[in-house]
Amino acid sequence: MIMKIFFNVIAITILYNVAPGFVSDKVSVSVKELDSVTLHTGVKTNQQEAIQWYFSSTCIAHISGDLSFICTDVQCNEGTERFRDRLKLDHQTGSLTIMNITNTDSGEYILEIINSKYSEEIFSVSVTGVSAAELYEMKEGGSVTLDSGVIKRPNDVVTWYFNETEITEDQSEICTDVQCKERFRDRLKLDNQTGSLTITDTRTTDSGLYKLQMIISDSSFSITRVKRFSVSVTDSGLSIGAVAGIVIVVLLVDAAAVAAGVVYCRSRSRTAVPQNEDDDNFTV
Ligand SMILES: *[C@@H]1O[C@H](CO)[C@@H](O)[C@H](O)[C@H]1NC(C)=O
Ligand SMILES: *[C@@H]1O[C@H](CO)[C@@H](O)[C@H](O)[C@H]1NC(C)=O
Ligand SMILES: *[C@@H]1O[C@H](CO)[C@@H](O)[C@H](O)[C@H]1NC(C)=O
Repeated sequence: MIMKIFFNVIAITILYNVAPGFVSDKVSVSVKELDSVTLHTGVKTNQQEAIQWYFSSTCIAHISGDLSFICTDVQCNEGTERFRDRLKLDHQTGSLTIMNITNTDSGEYILEIINSKYSEEIFSVSVTGVSAAELYEMKEGGSVTLDSGVIKRPNDVVTWYFNETEITEDQSEICTDVQCKERFRDRLKLDNQTGSLTITDTRTTDSGLYKLQMIISDSSFSITRVKRFSVSVTDSGLSIGAVAGIVIVVLLVDAAAVAAGVVYCRSRSRTAVPQNEDDDNFTV
C-alpha cells in the first residue's frame, strides 16, 4: 500500500512536471474560536480511495482505501500532538472535523484523494474572534430577545437549550416536552429569519443559561457554533432591562511543534504536489 502510494506520487509528479497548469479547488472557511468545523470530501470511501489530510505540510489524518489503516493527529505523526483529541475523521466519507477550533488552527488544510486518479482540494480556514457569552439582566414582566447575530439560510439548523435542556426543535417547534411547556407556556417566540429567541412576560424562573447551537451548512463544509446567553430576571429592584456586559473568553493554546515522524502518511513536499485535476487513470 505505502509503496503503491509512493509510486503513484512519483508518477504523478513526473506527469505534473511535463503538463502543469491546473489550480486546485480552494474553499474559504471563516469560523470563530471554539466553533467546530467539518470539511467535506464529497466521497464515500467504499471505492478504494485513500484519503489524506495535511496541515502545515504534516499529515494529520489518513484513511486507506480498504479501511485497514486509519489515523489522526498523533497516530499519523508520532510525537506530534497538535490537535490532541480535537480531530474526528468520518470513516465513511473521510470528512474531517476540527472541534473547539483555535487561532493557531488557521491555515490551509489540504485534502488528497488517491485511487486510480489523484485529486486535491484546499480548504483555507481562518479563525476570527470568539462567540462571546452575553449577559442579560432584567426585571420580571419585560421581554428579552436573545439575538443569534446571523441571518439563517434554509439549510442552517438552530437549536436552543435552557440549562442544557432542549427547548426548540426544527426551526419552528418550541417546547416539545411537558416540563418546558409548563415553564414557558406561550412565552417563547422564534424568529425564523435569524433563529433569535424572544422570551415575553419574563419570570424569575426564566433565569439561567440559554445556549444557541447553530449548524451552518455549505456544500463543502459545515460549522457548528454555540452561543451562550446568561439571563437573570429579578422580581423587584432597580435595574431596568438592559444588556449589562459581555464576557469574553480567551483561550490560550500552545502552538505545537511540527515533527517529522510519519506512520503511513508520507511527509508532504510542496514540490511533489500535483495540481492537475484531469489526469485520470494513473496506474503503476
Ligand atoms: C471543547 O471545549 C469545551 C469547553 O471548553 C470542553 O468542555 C470540551 O470538552 C472541549 N471538547 C474537546 C473535544 O476538546
Ligand atoms: C416563517 O417564514 C415564512 C416565510 O417567510 C412565513 O410564511 C412563516 O409565517 C414564518 N413562520 C413563522 C412561524 O413565523
Ligand atoms: C438554571 O440554571 C441556573 C444557574 O445554574 C439556576 O440558578 C436556575 O435555578 C436553573 N433553572 C432551572 C429552572 O433549572
